Amino acid sequence: MSPRREVVAAQEPDEERPVHPEAAPPEALIEAGVRPRRLDEFVGQARVREHLSIVLEAARRRGQAVDHLLFAGPPGLGKTTLAGIVAAEMGTSLRVTSGPALTRGGDLAAILSDLEEHDVLFIDEIHRLNRAVEEILYPAMEDYAIDVVLGKGPTARSVRLEVPRFTLVGATTRSGLVTGPLRDRFGFVAHLEHYEEAELEIIVVRAGQRLGVTCTPEGAVEIARRARGTPRLAIRLLRRVRDFVEVRSGGVITLESARDGCELFGVDELGLDRLDRRLLEVLCVRFAGRAVGLTTLAMSLGEEPDTLEDVYEPYLVRTGLLLRTPRGRVATSRAYGHLGLAVPSGRDGTSDLRLPLELP
Ligand SMILES: Nc1ncnc2c1ncn2[C@@H]1O[C@H](COP(=O)(O)OP(=O)(O)OP(=O)(O)O)[C@@H](O)[C@H]1O
Ligand SMILES: [Mg+2]
Repeated sequence: MSPRREVVAAQEPDEERPVHPEAAPPEALIEAGVRPRRLDEFVGQARVREHLSIVLEAARRRGQAVDHLLFAGPPGLGKTTLAGIVAAEMGTSLRVTSGPALTRGGDLAAILSDLEEHDVLFIDEIHRLNRAVEEILYPAMEDYAIDVVLGKGPTARSVRLEVPRFTLVGATTRSGLVTGPLRDRFGFVAHLEHYEEAELEIIVVRAGQRLGVTCTPEGAVEIARRARGTPRLAIRLLRRVRDFVEVRSGGVITLESARDGCELFGVDELGLDRLDRRLLEVLCVRFAGRAVGLTTLAMSLGEEPDTLEDVYEPYLVRTGLLLRTPRGRVATSRAYGHLGLAVPSGRDGTSDLRLPLELP
């Protein structure tokens, strides 16, 4: 994909018609439609919001480009949304690209030299930039200049070209993988955290309004508590429940219809889906509460170990259903309780914790 195709205008975004509808999956289109555009529409993350509002206001008063910003945190918490908000609040354009899409230094140099003053360049998954591209970024961030090599061999020479004063907004789900030199060049690093249920409720009600479905406060609570602290999941669940109430119920999301809809789509009251529960069942039933190594567990579920580690385990660990011990994965007594199973005798599901821990 050429970098030009990824340009998205942030001013007056048209929610029904994003720039490349043919290239965007339906989920992304819907996401674009419910994305908050202004900082005061962005729910939760109070500290980040406050800091950001000061940074933006100060830049506005000085008539300068905003300092470079890095948003770090798990998927679906609002990093891309915030990048759009920064551009909208500053009245500039947003250009979107990502670490893996920028394979050559020349790609980035082309994007940078094509920016307008004060534009926001958003690089998603910035921890996946390769070294050559990152090297181009350093002087661009610091001195608004890029070093271009002209010619080849002994006659090659390096020329420094100026680029407009822009704002780099980086997003990463793996802040630990952002290299030190890159991280140090950001003026502000924000760590997004999972949302409170009350915040997700507000997000559900507002997204419901945008999607044109009536959602009672009780219905919103029911969806919010199954959303794993994640706005993206709250909105996805809302859409499924909306389908359900339109087809099977009276078209209004109430406590009862929300519960029935979530159950139908296999999302239980802790927000676990079928695969999460299958993982716990394998540990509790098939392995009878023993600690199980990641590879064995992955093979039993027909999944890749990476998928288990990155997709399934974080939430199970966060909710206290799963433990990662040096001996392997163990279901906790809460997991047995959640599945309606008795804890096997001699084990409380966390017995491995009493073994000497062989921590690395
Ligand atoms: N604070 C919020 N208030 C309202 N809606 C939000 C908020 N945060 C996220 N959302 C909604 O959640 C969805 C996911 O947000 P977004 O795409 O910004 O997440 P992300 O952090 O960029 O995720 P990823 O790491 O997967 O790229 C969007 O539809 C967005 O509208
Ligand atoms: Mg994103």
